[in-house]
Amino acid sequence: MRIVVTGGAGFIGSNFVTATVRDRPDVEVTVLDALTYAGSRKSLSAVEDRIRFVQGDIANAALADQLVANSDMVVNFAAESHNDNSLVDPWPFVQTNIVGTYTLLQSVRRHGVRYHHVSTDEVYGDLELDDPKKFTEQTPYNPSSPYSSTKAASDMLVRAWIRSFGVQATLSNCSNNYGPRQHIEKFIPRQITNILTGVRPKLYGGGTNVRDWIHVDDHNAAVWRIIESGQIGRTYLIGANGELDNLSVIRIILELMGRDPEDFDYVADRVGHDLRYAIDSSSLSGELGWYPRYTNFREGLQATIDWYHNNRGWWENEKDAVEARYQAQGA
Ligand code: NAD
Ligand code: TYD
Repeated sequence: MRIVVTGGAGFIGSNFVTATVRDRPDVEVTVLDALTYAGSRKSLSAVEDRIRFVQGDIANAALADQLVANSDMVVNFAAESHNDNSLVDPWPFVQTNIVGTYTLLQSVRRHGVRYHHVSTDEVYGDLELDDPKKFTEQTPYNPSSPYSSTKAASDMLVRAWIRSFGVQATLSNCSNNYGPRQHIEKFIPRQITNILTGVRPKLYGGGTNVRDWIHVDDHNAAVWRIIESGQIGRTYLIGANGELDNLSVIRIILELMGRDPEDFDYVADRVGHDLRYAIDSSSLSGELGWYPRYTNFREGLQATIDWYHNNRGWWENEKDAVEARYQAQGA
């Protein structure tokens, strides 16, 4: 199988490529990545000589077409992915998440190539903190932020291209990922690298917001299961029953790193901050037999902390600039 992995130099994409090269010698991987601030060739260094890397934009129709024409499958991880950035400048989110997805869809349509769309549970909006309900495949779309609304728009394009043009595609909407190589602007790596550089962790608002954490390798195993056995046209929700409020996560990180669990700052809340995400992934488990392997969050988190500790060269150069951007926003 010849597979084009877009966004393969980012957090989830680079873990997907690394696992694919390790576990599936029959798969030929081409990575298409624009190398924005969020992408790094360093994230692919372990597999560099076993993949083809093309630097480019998924919205570049000629380039996308050329790569898609010579492939059997496209898995689209490329996106602008950070909510806080989308509140400062939404335009790159519209361009990459919507126009970029449109461009890939036109290419796979033209060449009859199978497509998998990687998306987020944030398209469903948020749940009340005390609501026993979780998101299911039937939950209506109700995105809150420029990030989640552009991801929702991209999902809608994929569904329309399936129905109107017979594109052979599947979609997955996953909860919050953690693991190695996540950009240090994101919650968990920001706090780990804060502690490693002597900065106090920063908690938005009161810290009651709940996220449903899943290890990145579990997410990617589910994506492969859908590629291999998913039903064309279907959306699958991916989650690992990992609901935790942000206050608890920050305290666990501090504790695992040998610090006082109260040694953090409360900072300004995010505008429009979604309260709670929670995924019901029973149809993925029931129909495709996928179950998460990382069921102990503290163990997965400890391994993630160790990764940032042992790979300072991967993130250290960017740390000051990331924190300066947050400080300018009062966060
Ligand atoms: P990321 O920001 O770490 O990586 C995105 C990658 O896409 C980067 O390598 C970047 O260079 C590349 N990219 C950006 N714009 C591009 C363009 N126009 N053309 C080509 N490449 C481009 O993001 P991530 O956290 O790895 O997320 C990957 C996907 O998974 C996204 O679609 C995101 O919406 C989705 N997702 C993420 C999470 C999460 O918790 N991180 C959860 C569910 C779904
Ligand atoms: P984030 O990693 O940005 O993911 P998302 O917005 O997609 O859920 O944030 C996760 C949660 O952590 C979210 O509720 C916002 C919160 N947060 C903080 O409390 N402090 C921080 O420094 C950051 C970056 C996020």
